[in-house]
Amino acid sequence: MSETPKFGGAANDKTPSGSSSAKPRVEIVTVNLTVNSEPRTMTIEPRTTLLDALRENLALTGTKKACDRGECGACTVHIDGRRVLSCMTLAAMQEGKRITTIEGLEQKGTSIHFSLRSSSTTDSNAVSALRARSCPGSP
Ligand code: FES
Repeated sequence: MSETPKFGGAANDKTPSGSSSAKPRVEIVTVNLTVNSEPRTMTIEPRTTLLDALRENLALTGTKKACDRGECGACTVHIDGRRVLSCMTLAAMQEGKRITTIEGLEQKGTSIHFSLRSSSTTDSNAVSALRARSCPGSP
């Protein structure tokens, strides 16, 4: 069972109302999840996509940012075994979930033999292909 993300940081600070010099506050959430079989904790803004969190907070750059609007599939990851576009997914909503990226597939020894290994489309195809192979009825 997943837990609700914990809200904290600057968002909990109270500023007297009517203060004209108050800067906009940045809300921060803490998210605990499992990425490529490792428990990870991220402190992020609630609007952070899973793609940005993986790349910028966890330095997992194998998941590529291409269109950043759900059209190309370069950012495909697995969340609890389901194929998901990470650019269209909020990281803060993934509390307690299992995320698998292209790096996780390589750690498992999944054989990935493509001639254009550096292509972002190739990486997303590898993630998608694994899903299709393990669940033949999946879309
Ligand atoms: S980056 Fe293109 S679908 Fe996510």
